[in-house]
Amino acid sequence: MKTGIRETIGGAGVIPVVVIENAEQAVPLARALAEGGLPVVEITFRTAAAAAAIAAIRREVPQATPGAGTLLSPAQVQAAKDAGAAFGVAPGFDPAVAREAQRLGLPFCPGVATASELSQALSAGFDTVKFFPAEAAGGVKMIKNLLGAFRCTGVKFMPTGGVNADNLAAYLAVPEIIACGGTWIVPKDALAAGDYGRIAALAAEARALVRAARG
Ligand code: 3PG
Repeated sequence: MKTGIRETIGGAGVIPVVVIENAEQAVPLARALAEGGLPVVEITFRTAAAAAAIAAIRREVPQATPGAGTLLSPAQVQAAKDAGAAFGVAPGFDPAVAREAQRLGLPFCPGVATASELSQALSAGFDTVKFFPAEAAGGVKMIKNLLGAFRCTGVKFMPTGGVNADNLAAYLAVPEIIACGGTWIVPKDALAAGDYGRIAALAAEARALVRAARG
């Protein structure tokens, strides 16, 4: 089991962000994503099915690495850890949530959108942050501006929010961007219809863009 957030999420280049209503879909979904070349998946705690979905992937899809997203409370961090999440992600920087992840030894990526939040996340001991909501908060330009001041810290970003197949390459051209997250790989209608073929194809398309950008 990988222990650091960078080694856990870094290799894939793209992290599908999943909103799942039915935990029974978790296993075929994770298999489709892994088949398309994206084994690391963020299951958001926006639905009641999240913990069961992570546990099912952990149990039945060894080639996948499920993490927990949208962690908004210490209790959700505990639930994610109990379910077997390999990592946790939050949209913002909440010291109580961040501390719980550290206490439990869960590799964790807090969210930031400003220089002040980034500064706080670094002070709390995090070296990798989710930049959210990426496009609305200034996109690649904002990340490059933040790096002007913060590159010396060695921080890495995972932009999420408005990233898609059209702008992915522009993000991945920035070396300090470790991976991009996004929901575009798992469209709501495809998941509702159980169209895992389409999801695998979208994952393969994203993976090809990562390969073109990063080799
Ligand atoms: C997230 O929580 O990471 C975002 O809601 C994903 O944003 P997207 O739907 O624009 O990819």
